[in-house]
Amino acid sequence: MVDAGVQADSTKLADSQGPAADLVLVLDFGAQYAQLIARRIRELRVYSRIVPYDTPAEQVRNLRPKGIVLSGGPASVYEDGAPQADPAILQLGVPVLGICYGMQWMAHVLGGRTGPAAVREYGRTRLWVEQDSALFDGLERRLLCWMSHGDAVLDLPPGFETIARTDHSPHAAIQDRRRRLYGVQFHPEVSHTPWGVDVLRNFVFEVCGCAPTWTMRSFVEEATERVRGQVGGGRVLCALSGGVDSSAAAALVHRAVGDQLTCVFVDHGFLRKGEAEQVVRTFRDHFRVPLVHVDARRRFLERLQAVTDPEEKRRRIGEEFIRVFEEVAARMGPVDFLVQGTLYPDVIESGTRTAARIKTHHNVGGLPEGMRFQLVEPFRELFKDEVREVARQLGLPDELVWRHPFPGPGLAIRVLGEVTEERLEILREADSILLEEVRRAGLWRELWQVFCVLLPVRTVGVAGDSRTYGYACAVRAVTSEDGMTADWARLPHELLETVAARITREVPAITRVVYDVTSKPPATIEWE
Ligand code: XMP
Repeated sequence: MVDAGVQADSTKLADSQGPAADLVLVLDFGAQYAQLIARRIRELRVYSRIVPYDTPAEQVRNLRPKGIVLSGGPASVYEDGAPQADPAILQLGVPVLGICYGMQWMAHVLGGRTGPAAVREYGRTRLWVEQDSALFDGLERRLLCWMSHGDAVLDLPPGFETIARTDHSPHAAIQDRRRRLYGVQFHPEVSHTPWGVDVLRNFVFEVCGCAPTWTMRSFVEEATERVRGQVGGGRVLCALSGGVDSSAAAALVHRAVGDQLTCVFVDHGFLRKGEAEQVVRTFRDHFRVPLVHVDARRRFLERLQAVTDPEEKRRRIGEEFIRVFEEVAARMGPVDFLVQGTLYPDVIESGTRTAARIKTHHNVGGLPEGMRFQLVEPFRELFKDEVREVARQLGLPDELVWRHPFPGPGLAIRVLGEVTEERLEILREADSILLEEVRRAGLWRELWQVFCVLLPVRTVGVAGDSRTYGYACAVRAVTSEDGMTADWARLPHELLETVAARITREVPAITRVVYDVTSKPPATIEWE
């Protein structure tokens, strides 16, 4: 992902202070949604963070977790090369909850037997609870859970008993009460297991004995301390995009190290209409840190000349970004750190060691080899709504807190095909009409994102008595909780009609407007 010289992985915990509140660690075996587990636990007001599956037991012990959750993952535990955690974590005396692969791994290393299930279970599945367990305290005996597995625990390890079964999983939930080791085959972290949060709650409070004392304010305090610890007396640059993530990151780092921080706003020319001016204005009004405003529009456009491949666009933009920063830094004297507002979904979608890569998000995987900064990424574990809460805690203005996500490569990945100034301008005009109408309709906060995409397709139209031949433009509006999955928004037809009429009237280069009715998955939110 990032070259060895860069400490981009904030899951390397050796130098962190360890939070004051109770901590539940999630060992990530490569589940796409491993962070959902951590997030659900944080929602219970207990601090939770994710670490790689192979974190040594010694390091885990030093973090003094009150509980450990082993995530699911795509591998089969009995196959060569399957991810293996340090078995000593099961002997720390800390309660463990294994989920899916996590449970299979635990059973495997403790002397049970895991193998292919006779019948694979996917989706909603009936579950019977047959044994008392702290994990199922207060729950019905017959439940519907969400399954997604091809392997199963076939024989229990010594000391374990079965809590629950399904038609095809004789050991769908297991426990060794004495050692406080628990396993569930289903996924309590997903919303399709609506009572799953009760299982997590029981684990965290009943089994681990955590106290619900953690809040986003504690996160702000701890993250501030962590940044202070990481940065020391170093000089820090912040890549400010104007979005809520980088603005909150800048505010947090400023809180931590004051004027060791300089913010840099690179106008790469792929921003929306009036956005560059707005970023500078908002920033000057709300921050008191020096801002370097770099107009790099020409060089970015040159780097993208004749490039049509989406991944290549992202790579070049990411690389150029860092080059610009290095130049700014060189002029400023020694700079040691670069702050980025990277969020957890950016990390997971760019592919971790264990999760599959969907696309390269430019502030993560697009970083070039040989980068000279160390990264400071205080929100690498958080989801968007969590960062909005951090931003609110830090006193950022509402318009910033509620800004929709905007991808780092900006309009360059919304002008499909080659990016030219002319096409960017067409897209900017269409997009600003759409945003204006959505705001006017009072729908802004209900949407995760809404934007136009300029298609590399010309279509025939008619204006007055003459034939026209112009671009097609797609409107995309989605609702989402965290950007990892999304549903297309059911915008009112009248709104769509107004938008289409205004765009085709006010942007003559566009003859046709279409509405994207695809969810994620199978599509992604952005078109490239
Ligand atoms: P996709 O298109 O992958 O997008 O469904 C998920 C969310 O991420 C945003 N996105 C990006 N953000 N750099 C970013 O900072 C990127 O390269 C990038 N690509 C997509 C996208 O707008 C959506 O909110």
